[in-house]
Amino acid sequence: MSSAMEQRCYSPVSFNEEPKTSLESENAQLISINTAPTARRQRLRTIWLSICAAVLLSSYTALVVLLARRTVVEDPTHGGRIIKSLAADYVQHEIREIDYLDWNQSAAFFGKPSKTVDSNWHELVKYHNIGLPDSYMQELGREYQGVQFPDGRYFGSLMVYHHLHCLKHIYHALYPEYYADARPAAGQEDEFQKHTEHCLGALKAYVMCKADITIETMLWSPKHSLPLHNVTSTHQCVRWDSILDYAKANNEDVFADGMLVHPTYGAVFKDRKPVNVF
Ligand SMILES: *[C@@H]1O[C@H](CO)[C@@H](O)[C@H](O)[C@H]1NC(C)=O
Ligand SMILES: *[C@@H]1O[C@H](CO)[C@@H](O)[C@H](O)[C@H]1NC(C)=O
Repeated sequence: MSSAMEQRCYSPVSFNEEPKTSLESENAQLISINTAPTARRQRLRTIWLSICAAVLLSSYTALVVLLARRTVVEDPTHGGRIIKSLAADYVQHEIREIDYLDWNQSAAFFGKPSKTVDSNWHELVKYHNIGLPDSYMQELGREYQGVQFPDGRYFGSLMVYHHLHCLKHIYHALYPEYYADARPAAGQEDEFQKHTEHCLGALKAYVMCKADITIETMLWSPKHSLPLHNVTSTHQCVRWDSILDYAKANNEDVFADGMLVHPTYGAVFKDRKPVNVF
């Protein structure tokens, strides 16, 4: 609010009269209410005060609404996060209707194995390898163990990609006849089983950590006596394209020559092929 406006609102009406004592002046005002010219002034004063009050009230309301909107709806940054993430400034949220009986969506990633399913998975996770700044590794106190690239950044990934990898691993495990990586070599069966258990455990922990509190309702079906779930609900979701923006902007090609060099065992890939993988 400008100070000019405040003056307009609060400066007392001046009377072009001889100066009086404060008591006289008050009496004069009380008496003068009935006299015509001062009554007009009083009306004007009331009108001005009403306008000022209306302006003040609407500015205040607009400010409160704006701030609340920025915090609740438009806040593209932290979405209630209290732990720092380098992706926080990228992440945006949206309200999205999800139908868990969307068979096409399920089939695209979990249907019978096919080239299309494989390419969908490839597209989904292709930016999972990213570079982290040195400063972030120092904050975590992990620079001593980090895997550093020649450009000084450290090898990292968003956890969401780990969980997607786990879903893919479990999916592959369902179709060992199609997926070679689901057919452990002789003697490696236990290790493969452990990997699958780790993935299921990680996904359970993740589901409970994020605990989707969207309410689900039940429905009566003409075909069944027991109530069914209505699995279509309105969810508060992270916008996947905002995650992609971060992952893409920080993507690193870890298969390129010289990117992954073990301090003892040397280069891991040569001409994009594993040379030293164990
Ligand atoms: C699902 O896929 C089928 C065949 O690919 C298509 O005909 C149908 O329109 C799709 N349904 C939805 C809801 O996208
Ligand atoms: C679930 O509820 C939505 C309305 O919110 C409705 O459109 C949908 O058809 C319901 N699902 C089933 C299976 O009835």
